[in-house]
Amino acid sequence: MRAYEIQAFGLDGLKPAGRPDPQPGHGQAVVRVKAVSLNFRDYLMVKGQYNPKQKLPLIPCSDGAGEVLAVGPGVTRVKAGDRVMGNFSQTWLGGEPSRAKLGGTLGGPLDGMLAEQVTLNEEGLTHVPAHLSFTEAASLPCAAVTAWHALVVQGGLKAGDTVLIQGTGGVSIFALQFARMFGARAIVTSSSDEKLARAKELGADALINYKTTPDWEKPARELTGGVGVDHIIEVGGAGTLGKSLKCIRIGGVIHVIGVLSGVAPSDFSVIPILMQNVRLQGVLVGSRDVFEQMNKAIALHQMRPVVDRVFPFDQARQAFELMAAGGHFGKVAVEV
Ligand SMILES: NC(=O)c1ccc[n+]([C@@H]2O[C@H](COP(=O)([O-])OP(=O)(O)OC[C@H]3O[C@@H](n4cnc5c(N)ncnc54)[C@H](OP(=O)(O)O)[C@@H]3O)[C@@H](O)[C@H]2O)c1
Repeated sequence: MRAYEIQAFGLDGLKPAGRPDPQPGHGQAVVRVKAVSLNFRDYLMVKGQYNPKQKLPLIPCSDGAGEVLAVGPGVTRVKAGDRVMGNFSQTWLGGEPSRAKLGGTLGGPLDGMLAEQVTLNEEGLTHVPAHLSFTEAASLPCAAVTAWHALVVQGGLKAGDTVLIQGTGGVSIFALQFARMFGARAIVTSSSDEKLARAKELGADALINYKTTPDWEKPARELTGGVGVDHIIEVGGAGTLGKSLKCIRIGGVIHVIGVLSGVAPSDFSVIPILMQNVRLQGVLVGSRDVFEQMNKAIALHQMRPVVDRVFPFDQARQAFELMAAGGHFGKVAVEV
């Protein structure tokens, strides 16, 4: 079967390769992958920036969906023909995370989904909500679970809350959709007026261009009558955390998710955190239980992920290039 391998770090080291057709062992299922979606993490993995010690070759990409081709002895959770997605972490099924539970993530350190077939333990699979295509389903395991785990599970999102969402990438657009689902108010920031217009079509209540309004935290606070926002989807990191602390309300939650503008803020003070009783809550995707809880809500609300661009398998490199350039809105997918 065909797969992509990271044979050396860097986009030039991402190569098509042949691998033996997998056979299911005890407790395992072979999945014919139909679609894969990209996360920023996958791009960092290819570049060697996520884990420079990652053993190569590695099949990249944590997120994919497909059809069960065959199951091994002892499998009861899935059967041939089922439509399934891989869980981001194959070993975090529920409860609090631990080193062991976080060690089994697809697309590094384990081989990922950018392949025609994969073999996964039955416990590492989750059924696709019936109304979704494989391409839509492939966009859920990392980005959507991260947004749901942050806002709904750890953040206790409520109707009437105000959520500030940074950017319009995969995690952020899911956060916008979940804010809408819960009757919360969404303020979206973006570097692009065109993307802001698309966010408005999806139901964003207020829009701020962070390029033309670099002090975006000021209008964000003004939009709440000076009180501050209840939740922030913090994907920027070093370049945004200081500003987030200036527009969060007293007692609000900053969901610390990404580092798109760097990892180490140079102008950082801990004073606003304690003086405003702010919660800085780290987020690391989520467990299978969280994934399944989210899928029930997605099915009930017939929510559809926003897949901006779909590339054929032989153009996977172009998909990574689009992600690197930030040219997308929501998700980028590869059909296998
Ligand atoms: N902790 C976790 O569990 C977890 C899970 C998933 C992702 N992440 C991290 O979260 C981040 C986003 O991941 P993703 O897969 O959603 O990425 P993505 O789809 O590539 O999103 C990129 C978008 O982020 C926005 N952005 C970039 N710099 C920004 C800044 N300084 N301020 C505001 N927005 C900015 C841009 O939106 P515009 O084009 O609209 O400006 C850009 O298009 C990455 O750092 C990723 O590693 C963490």
